[in-house]
Amino acid sequence: MLNMQIDTIKLKNMEAKLNCKFGDDGVFVEMALALNEYQEQLPSISGVSFGVYSGDLEKIRKLVEKVDAKWCKYFTENTTIFCAFVNKEPVSFCIITPTADSILCDDKLKIGGVACVGTVPEYRKRGLGLKMVDMATVYLKTLNCDIAYIHYTHLEKWYKKLGYETVVRFSLS
Ligand SMILES: CC(C)(COP(=O)(O)OP(=O)(O)OC[C@H]1O[C@@H](n2cnc3c(N)ncnc32)[C@H](O)[C@@H]1OP(=O)(O)O)[C@@H](O)C(=O)NCCC(=O)NCCS
Repeated sequence: MLNMQIDTIKLKNMEAKLNCKFGDDGVFVEMALALNEYQEQLPSISGVSFGVYSGDLEKIRKLVEKVDAKWCKYFTENTTIFCAFVNKEPVSFCIITPTADSILCDDKLKIGGVACVGTVPEYRKRGLGLKMVDMATVYLKTLNCDIAYIHYTHLEKWYKKLGYETVVRFSLS
């Protein structure tokens, strides 16, 4: 377990940026996981592969639009997009950032992020989304990140299944 200390200045910046309030009754969380001992957690899924997307950007943006249209602007040429593929077609996606914005002290640590996690509606509830986050977390380790970080999520229990821990809890004002 790495020492994950909160940077109070970053915490205040986040409070201002999101207009949020930190407290134990919040439904949103920031989560983190130490990568030093992380290994693939979940079994493979037959017929499903995982990896960095190198296909047509417009195609992936159409899938993103089905999940959350506000995220489309984050899927650009400069983004590392990680996917679950069925028959070589992407059905789940997320963005990988090797140096993520977080509220943790990062003096000596490389903090990578997994963001904009989505599965197209017709492929949900088959374990693809969580397995993709599992593989994306392993991928962050191959990028020499020390910590994997999830910013602003309501899916605390879901990410906990992989070992992600809650750093702070907050609600929107
Ligand atoms: C959140 C999201 C990515 C989950 O994708 P998914 O591919 O359905 O994820 P999983 O199948 O791994 O898990 C979803 C649920 O299906 C259940 N599940 C997994 N395999 C299953 C199976 N074979 N049969 C039935 N249910 C199953 C899981 O237990 C999980 O239930 P839980 O939420 O109660 O823990 C998807 O619902 C989505 O795109 N939502 C909108 C975007 C969003 O909110 N993203 C999160 C931002 S942080």
